[in-house]
Amino acid sequence: MGFVLPPRGVVLGVASLVLKEGATIDGALAVVRAAVDAGVLAIDTARAYATVDDDAAGERIAQAARAQAPGIPIITKAGHFRVGRAAWDVDGSPERVRADAVRSREVLGAPPSLLLLHRADRVDEIDASVRELASLRERGVVEAIGLSNASVELLDRARAITEIDAVENRFAFGLDPAAEYRYCLEAGIPFLAYAPFGGPKAEPLATRVPRVAASAMAHGISVHRAALAAMLDAMPGAWPVIGSTRVESVLDSIAAAAHEVEDDLRRAFAEDLRSRGVGL
Ligand SMILES: NC(=O)c1ccc[n+]([C@@H]2O[C@H](COP(=O)([O-])OP(=O)(O)OC[C@H]3O[C@@H](n4cnc5c(N)ncnc54)[C@H](OP(=O)(O)O)[C@@H]3O)[C@@H](O)[C@H]2O)c1
Repeated sequence: MGFVLPPRGVVLGVASLVLKEGATIDGALAVVRAAVDAGVLAIDTARAYATVDDDAAGERIAQAARAQAPGIPIITKAGHFRVGRAAWDVDGSPERVRADAVRSREVLGAPPSLLLLHRADRVDEIDASVRELASLRERGVVEAIGLSNASVELLDRARAITEIDAVENRFAFGLDPAAEYRYCLEAGIPFLAYAPFGGPKAEPLATRVPRVAASAMAHGISVHRAALAAMLDAMPGAWPVIGSTRVESVLDSIAAAAHEVEDDLRRAFAEDLRSRGVGL
């Protein structure tokens, strides 16, 4: 079946909606509802986006999007989980991956559209994890499978075992190189680019992409919207996974998909990435 998204648009991640200090269910649901109304393409969650009291908090929030838009894809992740107030652990063993997948299906009430091995970079026996993912897909527990936080070497290794339907790696503008994106483009694998703004604690986006910021100002849009629009224009086969926690910012970011990119912004984005040594 694979994992397919429309060619241009934004995925909403719910990590901060669950984990941010002071996060509330009502606040999270308001952001998810606004995002679905505005045409967000999919919701990204994980077993790890749990509260101390609820191991499935992130999946329940994602599930709320399905109540509004029944066909919306839900991406979740296995093998990384919360073990205390400020503690998370990694276990990519087949048993853990299987148990996580079954729990995700139970909470979502249907097979997840895509199950990713969350911390592919921190698993010792990746071959066994990947074989288990393939078996879960084969048995219909999940619709599609992939890796998150995977190097090109790990992707080669996994693809020697089975077909990989998607990859989710960090691609923060001006910080992360594009090697895995280029690999996925070449292989025809959807690339989910998480934390494009560098996450909630990153230095201001405008300082990392100053030319994009200047172009955004000239066009009267936010630097966030301009950078996402430029990314969608320059990176076919890639979808940003953003982590807005306010209705205002999620709507601003989703509007990037409809923004027509002109040459000055196209050049600004390419030059900003190149000048930081992370060109496409
Ligand atoms: N696979 C993995 O290992 C992994 C790891 C980390 C994250 N992720 C996924 O990626 C998602 C995004 O990650 P993230 O939240 O760290 O990164 P992010 O989207 O790069 O950064 C979020 C920050 O950007 C701000 N922002 C977003 N849109 C904005 C706009 N239009 N204008 C102004 N500010 C804007 C948010 O502000 P407000 O909060 O004020 O809206 C928030 O402070 C997560 O929710 C998760 O689903 C995956």
